[in-house]
Amino acid sequence: MTTGAAIGAVFPIFRQINEDLAMPNSSSNSPIDSLQHEDRRFPPSATFIKNRVAEPGLYGEAQENRLEFWARQARELHWHKAFSETLDWSNPPFARWFADGTLNVAYNCLDRHVLAGNGDRVALHWEGEPGDSRSISYAELTAEVKRAANVLLGLGVLPGDRVAVYLPMIPEAVISMLAIARIGAVHSVIFGGFSADSVRDRIDDADVKLVITADGGWRKGKVLPLKPTVDAALARVGNHSVSKVLVVKRGENTIEWSDARDLWWHEALANAAPEHEAQSFEAEQPLFILYTSGTTGKPKGILHTSGGYLTQVAFTHKNVFDLHPETDVYWCTADVGWVTGHSYVVYGPLANGATQVMYEGVPDAPAAGRWWKIIEKYGVTILYAAPTAIRTFMKLGREIPQASDLSSLRLLGSVGEPINPEAWVWYREVIGSGLTPIVDTWWQTETGGIMISALPGITTTKPGSAQVAIPGISIDVLTDAGEPVPTGGGGLLVVTKPWPAMLRGIWNDPDRFRKTYWSSFTGTDGAPLYFAGDGARLDDDGELWLLGRVDDVMNISGHRLSTAEIESALVSHPIVAESAVVGASDETTGQAVVAFVILRAKQLDKQTEAEASVLLRKHVAEQIGAIARPRDVIIVTELPKTRSGKIMRRLLRDAAEGRAIGDVTTLADPAVMNSIVDRLAEHRPADFNN
Ligand code: WT7
Repeated sequence: MTTGAAIGAVFPIFRQINEDLAMPNSSSNSPIDSLQHEDRRFPPSATFIKNRVAEPGLYGEAQENRLEFWARQARELHWHKAFSETLDWSNPPFARWFADGTLNVAYNCLDRHVLAGNGDRVALHWEGEPGDSRSISYAELTAEVKRAANVLLGLGVLPGDRVAVYLPMIPEAVISMLAIARIGAVHSVIFGGFSADSVRDRIDDADVKLVITADGGWRKGKVLPLKPTVDAALARVGNHSVSKVLVVKRGENTIEWSDARDLWWHEALANAAPEHEAQSFEAEQPLFILYTSGTTGKPKGILHTSGGYLTQVAFTHKNVFDLHPETDVYWCTADVGWVTGHSYVVYGPLANGATQVMYEGVPDAPAAGRWWKIIEKYGVTILYAAPTAIRTFMKLGREIPQASDLSSLRLLGSVGEPINPEAWVWYREVIGSGLTPIVDTWWQTETGGIMISALPGITTTKPGSAQVAIPGISIDVLTDAGEPVPTGGGGLLVVTKPWPAMLRGIWNDPDRFRKTYWSSFTGTDGAPLYFAGDGARLDDDGELWLLGRVDDVMNISGHRLSTAEIESALVSHPIVAESAVVGASDETTGQAVVAFVILRAKQLDKQTEAEASVLLRKHVAEQIGAIARPRDVIIVTELPKTRSGKIMRRLLRDAAEGRAIGDVTTLADPAVMNSIVDRLAEHRPADFNN
């Protein structure tokens, strides 16, 4: 391997991270704390092995002929026209998988199960937050999607057009996505927690033609209005061509209505023709755009296409979760607004004909035991959740889950951020009765599907480690100079070969696509390697431990946020002169947003400063969305800068995490950090439930 652009230049904090890797105990909350003395091992049980879905031979098969392995997985789908070429990588980093084949993604998730005689099988056990529920069979889901497809066609949506979906976790979210896919259009799902500004940016960037939203959805015992946010987003001038807004009635909250533009979903569907024959589209037909934060203020529209994406999400969903579609009840707790919801609520499970639970609300409505009650009610067998949730439950105590019967659970999954060994073991002991395998799955919005994970029934699991690449995926950990690290070493995670569900680009920005992901390292064959932005370490068994991001991207409760994005939201407020944002480790959320802010008015009393801090937290939530609201806004008078004026976020992170401050000799004014540490000490932690 040779190195391309100097990584230190692209990712300024990399060098420092590298030092951290050499000193794994430098941070008390580091996920690699227990790495050296983690010797707990959990081999699969005999019963699990007997019924396992994944065949151990998959690894050898993929090793021997990776492309033929993926072609075989792809043939599990229904192709209107079979493909003859598996991969075209003649123009890297632009990959084409199964390019001369044609298929319909929604047909694969719906019609084919009905035609196979499984129409009566429940696709969705949906549970509303207030306690209402609906079970929808594959036949019913197919019928709804056909009507919705006819509605979209009637509104003039053409193949390739972008449709934004801004919905709560209700069945209509799934129906919308599948209806859009069914007619070859492209969905851009926007998480319901995003603000009007964020919605507007996303609608503009993708030149959206139609928006599907709801009046509101239930969250924390209240109705969270959604349509007003869409109204506000569309009220501003933009370059989109939205002419219609389809509105699902859910919250029953009062909303404004534009007769020319707005349509009720239920009326439109009732008037639509019930039959719709799925047309086939090329395997590389765009399926969706999903925005994710990068290192700059502008979110990236990650583009995914059809055949390769569906192949990998179906394969991983079946093999990583040991899915027995006739008997399992699967529940992925992610919102469809994130990639986990796309791949492991919608496309993977439905392509496999799974029965799943979908839940609208938060884990603690009306009380802290809601998840466990849902598991008992539906007999959930497979649970896929995020470490931040698991750590929250850990803090609340085992009595809460133990009040429900969790004996149906037989497999647990984790995703979104490193899971510390303590949380891993608690998850297995308390939620999994000490018996269930745990799969810690590493992947990204960009990878589309799971890349690194144990295979249950095969892998002996190890708390805290994501372990091994799944069959057909090639992962390496490289040094800054592009050399593979030896076992026991730490470095940068790369994917060395193209994979079916890989992103096909950043919407409208091929240069950013190349630069962000493909310009750091080059393989021996001269083709660029995919750089994930994560640090990783290989343990003595050669297994992978993920160490978090090496760029200025934070991971809050498994959601990606960029420091730049929040900084730009802060400085957009007239009282702010300058700001620096860091992700500080947090017991529950993995990382938390800590903002250091210099106000324009320098001489303020403590009371006014405290008010400014409250105001700015609110401002960020309004600008980006509640997930981005800083845990702390610390008012300071100076920021630590080098002589060339670069903010040294690493020192701020040291301070925010209560560590001794690292080397300050490169600071223009080495005394700055003392006053910042004092300010932190005075600061009262904000009540971050508001
Ligand atoms: C980033 C991707 C994958 C869907 C949810 C997040 C971190 C993800 C793990 C894991 C350690 C993980 C990485 C990655 N991450 N899964 N099992 N162990 N870290 O998707 O918003 O695209 O974020 O999440 O840092 O780069 P995303």
